[in-house]
Amino acid sequence: MTDVVDVAKVEQLAGKVVGDVAGAMALFMAYLGDQAGVFDTLDRAGRVTAGELAGKTGLNAKYLHQWLGSVSAAGYVTFHPEDETFSLTPEQALVFGREGQPACMQGFVQILVAQYAGQEAAVETFKSGKGRPWSDHLPCCFCGTDRFFRPGYMVNLVDNWIPALSGVEGKLKAGAKVADIGCGHGSSTILMAQAYPASTIFGFDFHEPSIEAARSKAAEAGVTNVRFEIARAQDYPGDGFDFACIFDALHDMGDPVGAARHIRETLKHDGTFMLVEPMAGDTMADNMNPIGQIFYAASTTICTPASLAQEVGLGLGAQAGQKRLTEVLNEAGFTKVRRASETPTNMVLEVTG
Ligand SMILES: C[S@@+](CC[C@H](N)C(=O)[O-])C[C@H]1O[C@@H](n2cnc3c(N)ncnc32)[C@H](O)[C@@H]1O
Repeated sequence: MTDVVDVAKVEQLAGKVVGDVAGAMALFMAYLGDQAGVFDTLDRAGRVTAGELAGKTGLNAKYLHQWLGSVSAAGYVTFHPEDETFSLTPEQALVFGREGQPACMQGFVQILVAQYAGQEAAVETFKSGKGRPWSDHLPCCFCGTDRFFRPGYMVNLVDNWIPALSGVEGKLKAGAKVADIGCGHGSSTILMAQAYPASTIFGFDFHEPSIEAARSKAAEAGVTNVRFEIARAQDYPGDGFDFACIFDALHDMGDPVGAARHIRETLKHDGTFMLVEPMAGDTMADNMNPIGQIFYAASTTICTPASLAQEVGLGLGAQAGQKRLTEVLNEAGFTKVRRASETPTNMVLEVTG
């Protein structure tokens, strides 16, 4: 039987692939510019020629010329053909150049580049079906994860998410004992410590280099009411916590039911667990959108292998959705799950009972 091929549809799909390759190249160029400090320098320099930019960055003018051509065609840098100069609009500067600003997207880019750079391990994992530990990824995956998530936490955590929970903000202001589990580089932990100086915030993660990075960041920030410890979600030390939270990490865990059960056992009876997970609908059909496309991909190479590498190896996936997450939380003993807040990329669940 011969397939009947619609040539117009082939052209349309091939055209989409060309666009996607252009996007992938643009992100790689964004990464080069980030790591070589070109966006920063261009941001400070204003409108310059490629030669002037080479002088300011100390980079090879020929490489810069090619790079500027690509990022200008991508719309990441503005090209002024009348005098062959380049500049950043205020918006381009925010998205590509200003580290620490909520709009800066370089962390997202860094996660992607780390996945491409580890492509052989990704193929091997995919083919073998075996787990791949979180610690197996390239260091820029961990920094990228922190850089990617931090802006969202800066904007939402203290101003929107915690106030959306019932009775939690008052306890944190008065002085509470808090656990941030799977805290990674500790950005969420440090933000809470800064916002609620009367509280003590414990950050737990089983990845030693992440805990070391978190400790350094806390020291740099001068916060003294945080403690970072290498510990697993399913048996971290301590009890009597008023508030526990997990930011974008439950689905990476091998035993999310065991982790949630341990949280329930170590919370005070009136304590609250805030679960922040990637935004997702309850079925795959609900997730046929860019967020689904991105998170299913990250879940294929990072999250699901990280879970399968651990005991139990549930492999919840980064697009589990509230219904499935609620099943996990109920199995752990929690009786009440409420969507307290959300952003386009995250859902925030208040878990009690
Ligand atoms: C996607 S990162 C999120 C990190 C951080 N919460 C953030 O939002 O930037 C997932 C984190 O979960 C941690 N993790 C995964 N399984 C864990 C487990 N069983 N116990 C403790 N930490 C775990 C990893 O080490 C990693 O730091």
